[in-house]
Amino acid sequence: MRTLACLSLLAAASAAEIESTSFAETLRDPMEIAVAPDGDLYVVEREGRVLRVRPSTGGVFEIGNIPVTALKQAESNSPWAREDGILGIALDPAFAKNQRVFIYYSHAKEMLNRLSRFTLKDGKLDLASEKVILDVASDRRDRVCHHGGSLAFSKDGLLFITTGDNTNPFESGGVAPIDDRDGRDHVNAMRSAGNTNDLRGKVLRIRPTEDGYEIPAGNLFPPGTPKTRPEIYVMGCRNPFRMSIDPKTGTIYWGEVGPDAGDPGPKGPRGHDEVNQAKKAGNFGWPFVIADNKPYPIVDFASGKPGAMTDPAAPKNPSKHNTGLTDLPPAQNAFIWYPYAESPEFPVMGKGGRNAMAGPVFYYEPGRKYNLLAKEDDFTLLTYDWMRGNIWKAKLGDGEKLVKIEPLIGGLKHPMDLEMAADGTVWLLEYGTDWYFNKDGRIRRMRPADGNKPPVVKIASSGNVHTATASDPDGGEVSIEWWLTEGAGELKVGSGPSITHVSGGSELRAVATDAKGKTAVARVALVQEQALPALALELSGKPSQLGFGEELAFAVKGAADASKVVVRARYIPPTGHDAGGPQFSSEIEKLVTAKQCLACHQVEKTSVGPSYLDVAMKNRADAGALERLRAKLKTGGAGVWGEVPMPPQTAVTDAEGETIIRAILALSEGMSETRGSAAGKLALAPKPANAGSGGAWEITAEAPGFIPAKTRIAAK
Ligand code: HEC
Repeated sequence: MRTLACLSLLAAASAAEIESTSFAETLRDPMEIAVAPDGDLYVVEREGRVLRVRPSTGGVFEIGNIPVTALKQAESNSPWAREDGILGIALDPAFAKNQRVFIYYSHAKEMLNRLSRFTLKDGKLDLASEKVILDVASDRRDRVCHHGGSLAFSKDGLLFITTGDNTNPFESGGVAPIDDRDGRDHVNAMRSAGNTNDLRGKVLRIRPTEDGYEIPAGNLFPPGTPKTRPEIYVMGCRNPFRMSIDPKTGTIYWGEVGPDAGDPGPKGPRGHDEVNQAKKAGNFGWPFVIADNKPYPIVDFASGKPGAMTDPAAPKNPSKHNTGLTDLPPAQNAFIWYPYAESPEFPVMGKGGRNAMAGPVFYYEPGRKYNLLAKEDDFTLLTYDWMRGNIWKAKLGDGEKLVKIEPLIGGLKHPMDLEMAADGTVWLLEYGTDWYFNKDGRIRRMRPADGNKPPVVKIASSGNVHTATASDPDGGEVSIEWWLTEGAGELKVGSGPSITHVSGGSELRAVATDAKGKTAVARVALVQEQALPALALELSGKPSQLGFGEELAFAVKGAADASKVVVRARYIPPTGHDAGGPQFSSEIEKLVTAKQCLACHQVEKTSVGPSYLDVAMKNRADAGALERLRAKLKTGGAGVWGEVPMPPQTAVTDAEGETIIRAILALSEGMSETRGSAAGKLALAPKPANAGSGGAWEITAEAPGFIPAKTRIAAK
């Protein structure tokens, strides 16, 4: 049986060793973690589950499930909502007494993200207790993303909420998405992040009350200022993803996921991620400046021409879709900033994909139970990066200035949130290996190594009899307790090496404790999830990198009928978020919607007619495809994909037909595919014209009735 307490000693660069123990290793896209005063952890998952995790017994309890808009595994081709879901959680400062939690989530029906307060009842999330605190309008179509969603309470009871610019980053060439043309709202962050009268692209700061919230003093615009929202503390954010508050100074830190331009050009600087510091309310500049106040020109998207350059000291929002002030507060520098390439200012941040986040500020406190870092690290900000899988320590000095940055830990599985508990334990949430549908998200507990290793425990099961074998690497005695998960709670059901379990419960755990009180957990699932058989994909030579145009040899194991296997390789650019697979632009989406094509076709899924991606893949090497498919729209017909005919598409003009077919054929860009062959070769797609450095190849093997196999390999 799986042993849950996987211990590893992480060699911290210069300081003492860190003991890292992982818990709850089967989380599904966990988004944010909150530590309760009693040591329990609360975790929200993207698709809607709310969990309580009890580190002392290894228990993981589903305490609620909030209906949300989110990309769901059962519907993995839904064209929107790729970054929606449950976004964040914070516990009320008086949680021990009032059992209140704040959750920020994408509403299941309305186009908004909602901050609500829930009250736990008997340890469970009571959906009926929902008290809506604040709604933030959200567009979901046209591949808009960036919702932020981090929640944090300051020590004086103020709640901070980060919100993203809710803008499509894929149609502005990796510079500022400031397309001011009508109908292009989704590519215009001037309507959101740069708008003083809009809650998106902000850090909001409110004081929750029994019935809602109040505006505390010190926000960016005094209440009553025309064309502004008083909730705004920080404006000018793109995707402020995870934030933290210095427990002593109250200064806030957040990671800002930046745009994609690999190189500077006439339309603006190269993209940078940022770690930001705000000691007071301010404008952090997006979409008018980036990094250390590198300005963007106001580009006219109709002509493609760059216009007036932004003045960081007096930025303006000239958009006709701006409902707020034209003259904005002066832009603030980022605290740390880095592009895809190696950063000249902060080379220690490395290079490649990026997704900056900010964790807690560490203070060395001799009286506290645990100090993760050494005394000389007193007053250090922990920053991390979801893409790079690293944590850094950023030493702070006089005036909260940055003194130096050093790497702390690497090799993490998409670090998603980092929280410090009152006793000094640092909890790290890892999102899992993939972009979506992970089942290997986990929680790591980090404490300074103390020389005593935790025990090791395993369970062997034979019918109803479960036997735990435990040992202590330090050679001491180990005791065992058995815990049974029942619903959202647990029962102690025995002690000693073995137990006969008769009925009830969903999971049985053996908790082994050594003489010094260190524990390890092994678990047995009593209720098997209905699982489909899985495919396995083996790449010859186990490459660590793959280049455009290269040939990849592979074998797929597990499928009964090899002729049904489809293997695909898709290039994923290093954008810091999943580009979401092949999709139509919003114009094409509107056209095919208006012409009723979507009644029978979807981009990636077979419907009445073939998926458009299948059409694109089939015709990719065929120079005559454009003409033939255009003609087929007029005549209709059957027999190419099956018996069902397509009726003649009489509502489509010649010009529209050509536009649509071109867009369909373009869906195959960057894709390679082979079919009907479980062992074979795949030629990776040639380099697309606009490819930057970095990125990855995602190789998938699928067959009906099987769990697909999927792997990602870095692109050369
Ligand atoms: C009533 C259902 C229906 C509608 C509406 C429809 N299609 Fe089709 N489409 C089909 C079917 C069924 C096929 C497969 C025909 C075949 O096997 O030859 C098909 C095939 C196609 C093909 C591939 C043709 C080939 O020979 O490979 C294209 C391209 C296509 N459709 C585009 C469109 C577009 C664009 C629209 C909207 C203007 C549209 N379809 C509307 C049902 C439909």
